[in-house]
Amino acid sequence: SRGLGDVYKRQALALLTLTVVQGCGNESSYPESMSREKNSPTAIITAAIAVSDTYGAEASHNILNAGGNAVDAAVAAGFTLAVTFIDAGNIGGGGFMTIKMGNEIAFLDYRETAPLTAHKDMYLNEQGDVIDNITLIGGQAAGVPGTVAGFWKAHKRYGKLPWKDVMQPAIDLAANGFIPAPILVNSIHNMKNRFDGKTNFNEYFNHIASGEVFKQPELAKTLGRIAEFGADDFYRGKTAALIVEEMKRSNGLISAEDLDQYSAVWREPVRANWRDYEIISAPPPSSGGFAIVQLLKMKDYLAEHFANIDHNSAQYIHLIAEMEKRVFADRAEYLGDPDFFDIDINALINDNYVSQRAAEVNPKTISSLKSINPGLESPNTTHYSIVDQWGNAVSNTYTINWDYGSGVVVGGAGFLLNNEMDDFSAKPGVPNIFGVVGNVANEIQPGKRMLSSMSPTIVLKDGEVEMVVGTPGGSTIFTTVFQVIINILDFNMTPLEAIGATRFHHQLVPADLITYSGFSIDRPLSDRVINDLAKKGYRTQPHSFEYGDVQIIVKDGTSWIAASDPRDRGQSRVFEPTSKTRDQ
Ligand code: GLY
Repeated sequence: SRGLGDVYKRQALALLTLTVVQGCGNESSYPESMSREKNSPTAIITAAIAVSDTYGAEASHNILNAGGNAVDAAVAAGFTLAVTFIDAGNIGGGGFMTIKMGNEIAFLDYRETAPLTAHKDMYLNEQGDVIDNITLIGGQAAGVPGTVAGFWKAHKRYGKLPWKDVMQPAIDLAANGFIPAPILVNSIHNMKNRFDGKTNFNEYFNHIASGEVFKQPELAKTLGRIAEFGADDFYRGKTAALIVEEMKRSNGLISAEDLDQYSAVWREPVRANWRDYEIISAPPPSSGGFAIVQLLKMKDYLAEHFANIDHNSAQYIHLIAEMEKRVFADRAEYLGDPDFFDIDINALINDNYVSQRAAEVNPKTISSLKSINPGLESPNTTHYSIVDQWGNAVSNTYTINWDYGSGVVVGGAGFLLNNEMDDFSAKPGVPNIFGVVGNVANEIQPGKRMLSSMSPTIVLKDGEVEMVVGTPGGSTIFTTVFQVIINILDFNMTPLEAIGATRFHHQLVPADLITYSGFSIDRPLSDRVINDLAKKGYRTQPHSFEYGDVQIIVKDGTSWIAASDPRDRGQSRVFEPTSKTRDQ
């Protein structure tokens, strides 16, 4: 394996664009000749962003230019994506934010909660079966949203610019409109039948058209109220009242009491030393951090088996699938909301335990499903990564779960509610929309957070930010983040190559199934690899959706390389903010 430095020197010479390549799949670095203090390793003067659409990128760029820090820029991007990245950006969902601010490391959990009237069997019919689509479409699918509380809390602790200023780009885009990306227009039109006659989705969104300005006046007013009255408006004010009214129309459960009681929570992130790095990622109620650490460590314990194996060869995929099935077995048994279920994360990521799990990997053949016991999930989540000119970093993943969440728009408030309730285990052993199963740890309880896979991650080296990375993709999130880190470090890929490469996924159940992302663009697994996997006993198929939209920033000497996944509409930029403010 190689250090990051060599890789980036090569790229820095190759990439001399100051910022911006419009559209998707771009990678940006700062010209070396413009780095004024390039001999000092700590004198980073550039900022970097990798955001899931142009409008979010522009908003966070402007906020950094105005002297805002990474948290200001992250909040601005988050509210902006709630307007322009309608499929996943949100104020009606929830998420996680991993932060490095000066020497402080923080993790903010603003995941949705089950309403207080929710209960374990709420989605079962008289026969005890899960009712079709009830966890996915309509008011009952929605958990109590956390995004506004999360952004408010992050900004209160770390923000530099006034709250109203970081919200203004989103308010302007909702009021004056924006030109929607073609991928967004198509995706909204594809949803017509999914929600027709079941929710008010089409009323709000079906008239969106390519090349035409799309305005959201109700959302503009909602954002304006939040700008003026803070999170109080959403949880106790006019917006709260509108949510409760919508719940009556949509047969949902969220009450005024649910909203009043909601709070975002600062938690200890998962932190683990791995090689020369420190991995910082999402703790429960996400399974992401524990899974990434298990995968990275297990791979190193299996180094002799990985030696001289080609990237994405059948043997490479087999070894990683063997590791992944053990991670998913632990996930199903041990992971849930830590406020409701005791989880010993340190036991799950400690070296002894992970080396034992690695020793169970069968390098030659597939371990049978029943031999995998625990040893002790929508594509349309969205992620963005931001580093400011002071080296502070935010890695933020937030979601309304499946595309456009529950399809329920809060009437009069203009925003979509999530369908995050599907991330609970509605019944032990019954898979959710991501095909993942769960048990008691993730059963529905009032006020509980549903298990997530979101993995906003920051990698440190010698205490400084080396990489900021994350992606949407439900249960494929952490297997994607793992593969991207390994593509860069062990296969010497540039950040753009690493995130654009074909990726694959195995999650214990369905048995022996390897899925891969690459079917709608020209980068699938080769026939030879697919045949070799078949000889080993695997079934392979394209994943049911083109998964992942990785947004990554990687240290490059005294600057950064930022890259956005070619699968979607993200945009990355590296730039020197124009603000003259040099202090934090
Ligand atoms: N809703 C997808 C996740 O939280 O993992």
